[in-house]
Amino acid sequence: MKILVTAGPTREFLDPVRFLSNRSTGKMGYAIAEAAVARGHETVLVSGPVSLAPPAGVRVRRIVSAQDMLEAVRDELDAADVLVMAAAVADWRPAAVSGEKLKKRSNGGGAFQAADGRATLALVATPDILATLRPLKGRRTFVGFAAETGDPQEEAGRKLRQKGLDLIVANDVSRPDAGFEVDTNAVVFLAPDAAPEALPLLSKREVARRLVERIEQMRGGAQNG
Ligand code: PMT
Repeated sequence: MKILVTAGPTREFLDPVRFLSNRSTGKMGYAIAEAAVARGHETVLVSGPVSLAPPAGVRVRRIVSAQDMLEAVRDELDAADVLVMAAAVADWRPAAVSGEKLKKRSNGGGAFQAADGRATLALVATPDILATLRPLKGRRTFVGFAAETGDPQEEAGRKLRQKGLDLIVANDVSRPDAGFEVDTNAVVFLAPDAAPEALPLLSKREVARRLVERIEQMRGGAQNG
């Protein structure tokens, strides 16, 4: 199979030195790419800014913003059988990007206004990558992740249906041993017309291995080709 994986955060710049982002390190997505290659799949990784070494045998495309990630995934999707969106894509970006470093007091136009110890930043939505690419899905398998706090299943089930996914991997990112940054994760696989599969706390590498196996089963057990 040809597997396209996204990983890491996106950065949404406000000026040349400041950006909005999140805590994603890329560990989960890189582990998926590594597991996919280990199972013999041709693997492309679209990665936000992280400090991890790319897994051997994986072609990596580095991007910065949500818009960049959308464009890179769109380019690569044609050749892919499976898309796994493990990236933590920023939902918002500053409404304007200043070409110069913004001053502490800023009363000019643009997204940032500051005076008298208070500041406001105007934001606009970034593209929803899964929703944008849904019309191109065809016979491909689309897998999303859901980063939730509290019981992840209900909200993840809503995202599964709303985004028209074949599988969603729900993780409770409020746990200290799961979600962002750590080497372990506790996930639930949710698919339409199947009972939820809750995995115990595992290393991200093991979660990744089981996810790739699950995808292979969904696509009829095909391992190579
Ligand atoms: O990188 P690590 O430190 O290892 O952390 C792993 C992780 C917590 C980032 C990962 O396990 C995870 O949960 N990734 C998804 C994070 C997320 O953005 O979830 P969400 O519930 O906001 O988004 C739902 C799905 O829509 C995701 O597949 C996301 O990639 C996708 N999405 C989100 C926003 C957007 N604009 N476009 C998208 O396609």
